[in-house]
Amino acid sequence: MFYLILVLLNLLLLESINFIYCAATEIQFERFEQQLGFHLTNFSGLRVRKFNRTTWILDGEGEVFVDFTDEYQISLSMARSSLGNNQWNEYPVKISKNKMCSFLNEHYKEYQPYFIESTSFPRVGEEWVCPFPKGRYWVRNFAPNGAWVPSFVPSGYYRYTASIFDANDEIVLQFIVFMKMKQGYM
Ligand SMILES: *[C@@H]1O[C@H](CO)[C@@H](O)[C@H](O)[C@H]1NC(C)=O
Ligand SMILES: *[C@@H]1O[C@H](CO)[C@@H](O)[C@H](O)[C@H]1NC(C)=O
Repeated sequence: MFYLILVLLNLLLLESINFIYCAATEIQFERFEQQLGFHLTNFSGLRVRKFNRTTWILDGEGEVFVDFTDEYQISLSMARSSLGNNQWNEYPVKISKNKMCSFLNEHYKEYQPYFIESTSFPRVGEEWVCPFPKGRYWVRNFAPNGAWVPSFVPSGYYRYTASIFDANDEIVLQFIVFMKMKQGYM
């Protein structure tokens, strides 16, 4: 379900701007949080850990308690803080509400090569996958790859939020990833 967190990292940046290769970008995970929705999923076991001197990874397990069908919708948004002092500015770049299975078979599918080897989340192939099935899922040693970030994305602190809405259009679950990004030329 929260596969979106992994997708998020690049999706928001890549969706609305042209891709420019820039190997000099450093991205560092700072924190991952699930907020609300502990009756739907429990990803409190998914943590950011220091892997070596220069790399922080996302690693752990979580559980999805329900099948996420098209009754649910998801949106993604991004905010930036230049100083990391919790003064967040919302970025206009976002993915507006999508039905869960559309998201899974479109955005998720498009970006799965980037993260699929690091998780047990479903692989979406030619067949339409729906729902996102309940079950236990793991993420192992997932580190973001700065090479995917366009060189004009400014250095700073970034907060990515995935919000899941129920059939009544209420936010019932959120995943938040905090990251630090540093461009090589800075
Ligand atoms: C969530 O999972 C953690 C272990 O990963 C567990 O300690 C905690 O009790 C669980 N919380 C709920 C509400 O199920
Ligand atoms: C840290 O681990 C990453 C990922 O395996 C690797 O690319 C990098 O070279 C390592 N850095 C150091 C200083 O060992």
